[in-house]
This record gives sequence, C-alpha cells and structure tokens, in this order.
Amino acid sequence: MGSGDYALLDSGGGRKLERFGPVVLDRPAAQAVWRPSLSPEEWARADAVFDREGGHHWAYRRPLPESWVIEIEGLKFRLSATDFGHLGIFPEQQDQWRWIRAEVQRARRAGSRPVRLLNLFAYSGGATLAAASAQAEVCHVDASRGMVEWARANLALNGLEHATVRWIVEDVHKFLRREERRGRQYDAIVLDPPSFGRGPSGEVYKIERDLMVTLELCRAVLSESPWLVLLTAHTPGLSPWVLQNALRQSLGAREGRWECGEMLLRGREGVYPLPNGSWARWSRTE
Ligand SMILES: C[S@@+](CC[C@H](N)C(=O)[O-])C[C@H]1O[C@@H](n2cnc3c(N)ncnc32)[C@H](O)[C@@H]1O
Repeated sequence: MGSGDYALLDSGGGRKLERFGPVVLDRPAAQAVWRPSLSPEEWARADAVFDREGGHHWAYRRPLPESWVIEIEGLKFRLSATDFGHLGIFPEQQDQWRWIRAEVQRARRAGSRPVRLLNLFAYSGGATLAAASAQAEVCHVDASRGMVEWARANLALNGLEHATVRWIVEDVHKFLRREERRGRQYDAIVLDPPSFGRGPSGEVYKIERDLMVTLELCRAVLSESPWLVLLTAHTPGLSPWVLQNALRQSLGAREGRWECGEMLLRGREGVYPLPNGSWARWSRTE
C-alpha cells in the first residue's frame, strides 16, 4: 500500500489505475509502456475514466462526490475532479513532503528562529502543509487565485489555520524580483515549475526557457545560511540529473548534501512503482 488513503493499484498500456480514498480512477500515463497486471474486469471497477483524446473529458461509471478528503503522510487534502484530469494533489510528491517536514524539524532543533520557507508554483499546498505542520513560516506563491484558495482550505482542514503563511497570487518571476529589491530572504525554497504556465496577467512560463532565470532569482533571495532547496518537475526530458545540474550551477559551490531521483507513484507490494517526474535537492549538513 502507498502511505495513507492513496494507492497505485496498477499501470500499463499507457494508463494508471489509482485509489484516492473511496474513489478509483483510470487516467493516462504515457510512461506505462508495459502491460497491465490486473484484468480488464478489475480496471472496469474504476469509478471514472479520464481521457485527453478528442479533448479532455471524464467518463463516469458512477457519480464522483463533488469533493472528498484523503490523508497522505498525515496531511489532509480536499480533492475534486478538475476538467484537466487533476484532482488537487500530486501523490508522487509524498516523499518530498516527508523530507521537508523532517528537514524543517531538524532546522528548528538547530536554530533559534523559525525556518522561513518559500513555496513557488505552490498548487494546492502540499509543501506548505508539510512545512507549516513543522512550524515553519511559509510564503506560498501561485498564479491562480483558485489554487491559492484551495491551498488555504487545505491548511484549515489540517487545523493549521493559525500557522504563519503569506498567501501570494502572482507571477513567480515578478514576485522574486520584488522580494530581491526588498531584501527579503528565505532559509528554504521549494519549487515545482510547470512545463508551461501563465502568470495572473498572462505572463508565459516555459520551463526550458525560464528555469535558469527562476533558479538564479531564487539564489538571490536565499538567506546567508539556508537549510534546503528542492526542485521538482514533471517535464519529459528533465531527468533527475538535469534538475540537479541546473540547481548546482545556480546555487554555486555549496557544502551540504546533494541528492536527486525520480518521483514515484506507489502501491502495495508487487505493484510496479510508476515514475512521474524528477526531483533534485540540496540540504545543509552540520
Ligand atoms: C504545481 S505546478 C506544476 C505541476 C506539475 N509539475 C505539472 O507540470 O503539471 C503548477 C502550478 O504553477 C502555477 N503557475 C503556473 N505558471 C505560473 C507563474 N508564471 N507564476 C506563478 N505560478 C504559476 C499554476 O497556477 C499551478 O498551480
């Protein structure tokens, strides 16, 4: 089993079958080039099937709840099936959430003031929840007001509404340039840039063109003795070492621990883990 209410049940034939609490979904996964292990009858138990061919659409075998709550890594998330096939969670990030929480706790034990963590392209707030649950002060930035509201609701759902979180609806580059001008600094930065995205005023973000600028702007707002930087991406071609090289070059020569790997969707024993994006991270060692 994966941790909590999420499990990958099977993958293959370009699809993935996943359980999110009471809901089972069948969605595209181009990387699953192998054959499914479960029978077609078991796949047919999915409550809904999402397809991108002929336009994005859901086909429902049973009506889905308008929204529902699941728990992963001790964090609660409200889910809802969006028109893009997303649900408001990327469960392949769960190892990173565990790591963020452990690192923030380690930093707290070592230092006197709370860790200041910046979460960029923050989506529904998984990293914000993980950091806030370990008492970091978080700045949460996303271009979409709707996603920021969703993340805020997730924070309240976890009983963390009194945590110190700044909510910012802005283009990431505009935000970082302003923070640099104001001399604001962060001990920890987490970023999950999209392959392609838009800021609130239509600013176009293309990861291949913009990633190095984003990372250099991040470096400019890092505090003098930071704790961690975590970069994740789902863009095909941006492998773990591609992310690590980009991060190393932007952060400059830095003592500490460098690691990289693939994000994985996981199920119970015997279910092939399904790679879904890459991560690279740096953390301070003492
Ligand atoms: C979590 S990231 C990408 C998720 C995943 N890595 C992927 O590629 O599907 C997507 C988030 O970035 C936000 N976003 C996209 N472009 C942005 C920009 N220029 N500035 C701030 N946030 C942006 C979106 O609103 C969305 O919530």
